[in-house]
Amino acid sequence: MPMTSTSEPVLQGQRALVTGASSGIGASIAKALAVAGAKVVVNYAGGADRAQAVVEHIQAAGGEALAIRADVSREDQVEAMFAQMFEAWDSIDILVNNAGLQKDAPLVEMSLADWQQVLDINLTGQFLCSRAAAREFLRRGVVPELSRVAGKIICMSSVHDVIPWAGHVNYATSKGGVSMLMKTMAQELAPHRIRVNAISPGAIKTPINTAAWMTPDAEAELLKLIPCRRVGEPEDIARATVWLASDASDYITGATLYVDGGMTLYPGFDMGG
Ligand code: BGC
Repeated sequence: MPMTSTSEPVLQGQRALVTGASSGIGASIAKALAVAGAKVVVNYAGGADRAQAVVEHIQAAGGEALAIRADVSREDQVEAMFAQMFEAWDSIDILVNNAGLQKDAPLVEMSLADWQQVLDINLTGQFLCSRAAAREFLRRGVVPELSRVAGKIICMSSVHDVIPWAGHVNYATSKGGVSMLMKTMAQELAPHRIRVNAISPGAIKTPINTAAWMTPDAEAELLKLIPCRRVGEPEDIARATVWLASDASDYITGATLYVDGGMTLYPGFDMGG
């Protein structure tokens, strides 16, 4: 049986914003949230045509979507994006902090610019978008017809929030930061009926890591790190996101869901220690 996103409209009438939604995991999440009944802002920084394609895909299936350009690391652009969303749909119910990038280099060769850009987009971007969403959740409060809580924030992290990653110190540091950003926001916002959780994907087939699975040799090497012996698909993450955004996970906040085929299970130890 093919694994498809749930077609239950568990998010009917809710308004979602997905950052970095023009490709990869973000595009898949945007489509899955729409299938679940949400209206979706498809945020992008570059590639307006790809964002528009995601919007058209959602509309063709009978959903509502809106592409909005914004660099999530820029406060003015984030504020303008939320203002545009509120003008169109009044408010927000679900934020998915997905935008992220890699700029890989060994530590001794890494430029300050590449360190800073990855921290700016992967970590500061999540702070800026979460702050804007939380302000609106607090202002508006719970709308019982839509959800049991005033809002949901889902932070895209990575298995590299716990697995150190040589040659990617900026990326791993940003994801370690996302983990503590998420937990601290969850603690602070829980009394206000706002849930904050993270998803930590393992190796998922997207443009960010094409080199790791494109050739049979590369894929064979990668599979040694994945006990389930399957490279993940964006839909694996999208299904988890829909669940974390829905009332089905109402008692879960401050949690990180590792969707990684077992990558965090120390696969090198499968023959003993
Ligand atoms: C990275 C991918 C990598 C995966 C597992 C992700 O967070 O973006 O490039 O394949 O972690 O190492």
